[in-house]
Amino acid sequence: MTSAQPLCHADEIAEGEARGFGPLEGYRRKIVVLRHNGTLHAWLDACPHYPGGTPMAWKTDAYLNGEKTHIACHSHGALFDMETGECVLGPCLGQQLTRIALTMSDEGEIFVTAAQEEKRA
Ligand code: FES
Repeated sequence: MTSAQPLCHADEIAEGEARGFGPLEGYRRKIVVLRHNGTLHAWLDACPHYPGGTPMAWKTDAYLNGEKTHIACHSHGALFDMETGECVLGPCLGQQLTRIALTMSDEGEIFVTAAQEEKRA
């Protein structure tokens, strides 16, 4: 059973910004949506440093490092590539964030599909 869950309008996420959405049906963590080089990417808010994943922001929507060049886990300082989700610095070096597929309506509203994460397991 899947259903599209609306997040926001694509224009609401500016270049170099990230926002968290949730709770959402079928996901154990928030979904982080960011825009990098004009493209939207979505990741599960679950740092791979520990099994099960740890929420990464230290306050609402604080998912990027200070330079806004990487996704940052503020628990132990891991940095992740915004386009690939790969950890490039920190205790989970080489591990990946879980990518979440987005869909966009003709009007520019972005959606995730419920239970998507569970299908991966
Ligand atoms: S929980 Fe993310 S770096 Fe340790």
